[in-house]
Amino acid sequence: MYKAEIRLGAQTESTISPYIYGAFAEHLGRCVYDGIYVGEDSKIPNIRGLRTSIVDAFSEIKLPVLRWPGGCFASYYHWKDGIGPKETRPRYENNNMWHDVEDNSFGTHEFMDFCALIGAEPYIAGNLSSGTVQEMRDWVEYLTHPYDTPMTRLRRQNGREEPWRVKFWGLGNEAWGEDGNMRPDYYCDVARQYSSFCNNYSETDELFKVFVGPHMDDYEWTDYIMNVSYPYQPNGHWGRGLMHGISIHCYTYAGEYFKSSADIDFTDDQWNTIMKGSEFYDELLTKHSGIMDRQDPEKEIQIVFDEWGTWFAQRFGSHPEAPFHNTWYLEQQNTMRDAVFAARAFDVFNRHCGRVEIAAIAQAVNVLQALVLTEGADSILTPTYHIFKMYMPHRGGKLVSGTLDVEPTASSKGSFSPVSFSASEHDEGVFISLSNGHISEDCEIAVSLPDGCDEAAVHAEILFSEQANDHNTFDDPEKIRPMPFSSFAYVGHKLVFNLPAHSIVSAKINRR
Ligand code: AHR
Repeated sequence: MYKAEIRLGAQTESTISPYIYGAFAEHLGRCVYDGIYVGEDSKIPNIRGLRTSIVDAFSEIKLPVLRWPGGCFASYYHWKDGIGPKETRPRYENNNMWHDVEDNSFGTHEFMDFCALIGAEPYIAGNLSSGTVQEMRDWVEYLTHPYDTPMTRLRRQNGREEPWRVKFWGLGNEAWGEDGNMRPDYYCDVARQYSSFCNNYSETDELFKVFVGPHMDDYEWTDYIMNVSYPYQPNGHWGRGLMHGISIHCYTYAGEYFKSSADIDFTDDQWNTIMKGSEFYDELLTKHSGIMDRQDPEKEIQIVFDEWGTWFAQRFGSHPEAPFHNTWYLEQQNTMRDAVFAARAFDVFNRHCGRVEIAAIAQAVNVLQALVLTEGADSILTPTYHIFKMYMPHRGGKLVSGTLDVEPTASSKGSFSPVSFSASEHDEGVFISLSNGHISEDCEIAVSLPDGCDEAAVHAEILFSEQANDHNTFDDPEKIRPMPFSSFAYVGHKLVFNLPAHSIVSAKINRR
């Protein structure tokens, strides 16, 4: 048993954006097709083709925002292929990034229907790589224009009278990589051009436009984008904002970058590498935000961490349930390691909430660090899903500052803090999340609370399983789920928690 001490300080002025708890859904493997979307004729229970169990699961955690249709897929996507009668929508094979069959049966209307059912804000990633300015402009008009225009006539013809509300728009995806291999100066010009044609058609909802940001620690990219596009803020010289956010993508591997390792059979050191990965998120946010501060100390431009999560070796082989797909493309199991990592990542995002407006885990269903896995008609909630649920009270709270004292844990990638936490203030009191990222040692964490907390009013939950690589399966879907937690006591003015190895605890402490 090792010990840690947390001293909570004052409530800050920074609000934890609810959108930090978002997800990303791409037309990749079985995320959308056979995952979210099974089709109206499927025997799998569905609402207008959308898998009922997933609608229920995402409604339960009030998923705040969903990014779609990619990822790299966005750079191949032509949205007009995905509207109108399904029988007339084009079907093509192997002509996108992920070499999947695309029959366009899930398109704009289906995505908007899904968002409405689960209560999520849509976040649409536009195609700046193989699309056109006109195409992007038309998409904004089709979705959001209230009056009589060519695109709104088309929308009405396709059964939707009223405009939708779509606030979040991505101006491309990973333009520095396969999605165009653009240099920052070229990308900036393209994004500024596209942005100029993405008009606000609503009096009340200004579009929030997200420029492609750096790949991980490419600080020059951020510097360039800020220098070239920030001066047009706020609200632009032409009466509308050009850029409201900059995205960051970073995946976490247990080995070398892009060398995948096993999702379940990992070593202690591979556990440690993943824990250390969340500290890299902290470093990225600190440094990118610091660069942005030079131009934008008021933090008007937000960071949108719209692809994050673990990336392990995919499961190969024929997929029995998905005739479209010949591999379990980027599918991986989800263990307690993923859960502790998600908790640590959320703690980082929470602590950077003055700058981070949105985050989206990759991906929502079946792909990478998924929230839900499906097999045939069955679906299971992953340990990562339960972290989303346990962290819900942080949304909209004011960040509470704090310090942490703990002996670092050594790993082959350098030492890291085995304990992570974040805290927020709400009308009723303080909410704190704690995790023990040590694979095998329990931890006693003493928390000094702000004044006024009611010693008798602590409600805590834990996510824990005996083995660090335990996971939910279709035979045992509830092996890991949040349970009431009572292993804490007041010692003097400190609340002392006993966290088992590889566990996460969340606690609401009401005010007197
Ligand atoms: O999430 C999988 C892929 O990873 C996305 O399509 C791409 O944006 C990223 O490189």
